[in-house]
Amino acid sequence: MKIVILTGAGISAESGLKTFRDADGLWENEPVRIVATPEGFESEPKRVIEFYNKLRKGLKNVEPNAAHQALAKLEEKFGDDFLLITQNVDDLHQRAGSKRVIPMHGELLKVRCLGQKEHVTSCSEDQPEKCPTCGAKMRPHIVWFGEIPFEMNKIQKALMGCNLFAYIGTSGVVYPAAGFKQIAKMAGAQVVCLNLETTGDSYTDEFIQGKATEVVPKWVKAITDAN
Ligand code: APR
Repeated sequence: MKIVILTGAGISAESGLKTFRDADGLWENEPVRIVATPEGFESEPKRVIEFYNKLRKGLKNVEPNAAHQALAKLEEKFGDDFLLITQNVDDLHQRAGSKRVIPMHGELLKVRCLGQKEHVTSCSEDQPEKCPTCGAKMRPHIVWFGEIPFEMNKIQKALMGCNLFAYIGTSGVVYPAAGFKQIAKMAGAQVVCLNLETTGDSYTDEFIQGKATEVVPKWVKAITDAN
């Protein structure tokens, strides 16, 4: 069985990281047009860099939760027949032991050169002033609105070839991730949603409502026991 998982901010909520659109979410307190668009970075670079510096340093105070750990176990069981796509820019899946992870919206713990996009540097503190490779200015290694997410070809291929697609802790309002369930469904996969709130849609075969740390470990156990 080939499994593809998509996660969103809801899977990290119980680790203490804010989601985007829930009450008191990140987008409630920060103007998206400034901190999550290339134009915003262009107009207020210092404010944007500071926003991501703060989020980046906040990662030190949080730990992966039982949902992250359960998905790492699922990967252990299925190996190369498993792929985890995350919209999250935190490192909690990786810290929980997930290896086959595509951070399609980038990573907080990386920054990249404005001169050469290949110059990507690890960063756990404040963003450095200059690219260590070529000295040019830098930006957060985050995909902003209007930019193309990473590894879309690999993602598309995996969605077209999977038997089971589950989307976890995401409001499903941001494309292209919001369209993944449709691609998987059209390719013949079973589509499952695990989320605090469930919305009805014709592509989803099963809704499992609840907190990620409660429903994800149970769901993973049911799959590993059955295979
Ligand atoms: N357990 C499970 N689901 C939860 C929990 C929880 N403890 N807490 C919140 N949720 C659900 C909410 O019900 C909501 O459906 O997680 C979802 C979070 O939705 P958003 O805040 O919109 O986050 P996400 O879907 O990841 O946003 C997608 O939008 O702003 C951009 O690039 C950003 O990657 C982000 C993308």
